[in-house]
Amino acid sequence: SRVVLAYSGGLDTSVILKWLQDHYGCEVVTFTADLGQGEELDPAREKALAAGVKPEHIFIEDLREEFVRDYVYPMIRANALYEGLYLLGTAIARPLIAKRQIEIAHEVGADAVAHGATGKGNDQVRFELGYYGLDPDIRVIAPWREWDLTSRTKLIEYAEANGLSVPKDKRGEAPFSTDANLLHTSSEGKVLEDPWEETPDYVYSRTNDPESAPDTPEYITLGFGSGDANSLNGEAMSPATLLAKLNELGRTHGIGRLDLVENRFVGMKSRGMYETPGGTILLAAHRGIEQLTLDRGAAHLKDELMPRYAELIYNGFWFSPEREMMQAAIDKSQENVSGTVRLKLYKGRADVVGRKTDRKFNLYSQDVVTFEEDAGRYDQRDAQGFIRLNALRLRLLGERNRAETDE
Ligand code: ARG
Ligand code: SIN
Repeated sequence: SRVVLAYSGGLDTSVILKWLQDHYGCEVVTFTADLGQGEELDPAREKALAAGVKPEHIFIEDLREEFVRDYVYPMIRANALYEGLYLLGTAIARPLIAKRQIEIAHEVGADAVAHGATGKGNDQVRFELGYYGLDPDIRVIAPWREWDLTSRTKLIEYAEANGLSVPKDKRGEAPFSTDANLLHTSSEGKVLEDPWEETPDYVYSRTNDPESAPDTPEYITLGFGSGDANSLNGEAMSPATLLAKLNELGRTHGIGRLDLVENRFVGMKSRGMYETPGGTILLAAHRGIEQLTLDRGAAHLKDELMPRYAELIYNGFWFSPEREMMQAAIDKSQENVSGTVRLKLYKGRADVVGRKTDRKFNLYSQDVVTFEEDAGRYDQRDAQGFIRLNALRLRLLGERNRAETDE
């Protein structure tokens, strides 16, 4: 039998590759996705070849544009944040990996897929809900839940016994579990497991410390069309190119660091540290353009849906009818979310300082809102009746309260 493994080329999935061959005696097909994690992917090919994987069974694919266009951008349209803070950088990448893995399984005639997520986290759920949603009959192998390598120490011993190279920092105190892509880098475990301990500097990999970021602010403009960012400082860019550029700006100015204790789907709390430089700028800018172009009713409904939508993504239900229903509503709301936002990047902050849009998208009327002489489209006397009717219930309640205390 054949199994398609989500293979990063790192220590864990290299051990899994070997283990699948030994334990299941199956032919392993490796799939390595470039989601912008910023690592060379050639070593993954060499390691897979060295492990005996056939050249035609090594899949290495650049999915960066698809990732940002079809996963990150739809999520930004919703302004999605899990538990108020987390931009879902790992959660949003899993469905795409699962989708390509199932497609490859069908291409090579494999009957199983495997991943390197542990049995304690969210990622196993996300991968597997994706797999089953796209192929109800697929067989799933999750080695971390099956083997007797019950700790990192045992994993490293197994790796060394099998002649796999163990990166230096995997022995010492440094790592934690990390995950990186164009949207974010996350770190968990080891030093971070004590939620009282401040994250040490060496954990950060893609943002400057805001304290030592430039003392001069940098201004940028971001253009939006139907809810999606499409230009930076007037220059049109593809989604992945644009996010990569925002990541550079965010790195310089120390934007998008987050220290969070969150609720995992499997029931436990975990402490993580996130760096989402470009995504943090993007989210601020998206809200900025919605401020001019989105009607209040639509905006508030969207904000009510948002925590549900974010929770679905966090819990791994990207390929579910309820996520698609919400997405349809969110996308509909974005038809006129177009224009330009000006932001100031400075020492860890990305602040919207200006926004403008064409007349055909605009709902903001200086003419109506001005405290100066207006064009007469708003009659202040109307407000009296508006308030009187809104106050009616409150006055009736007040009368009742007074009657009760009089008794
Ligand atoms: N806690 C975050 C999440 O659930 C990050 C998970 C990181 N995954 C990993 N394999 N290191 O989305
Ligand atoms: C893992 O357990 O593999 C990483 C953490 C998570 O999935 O939440």
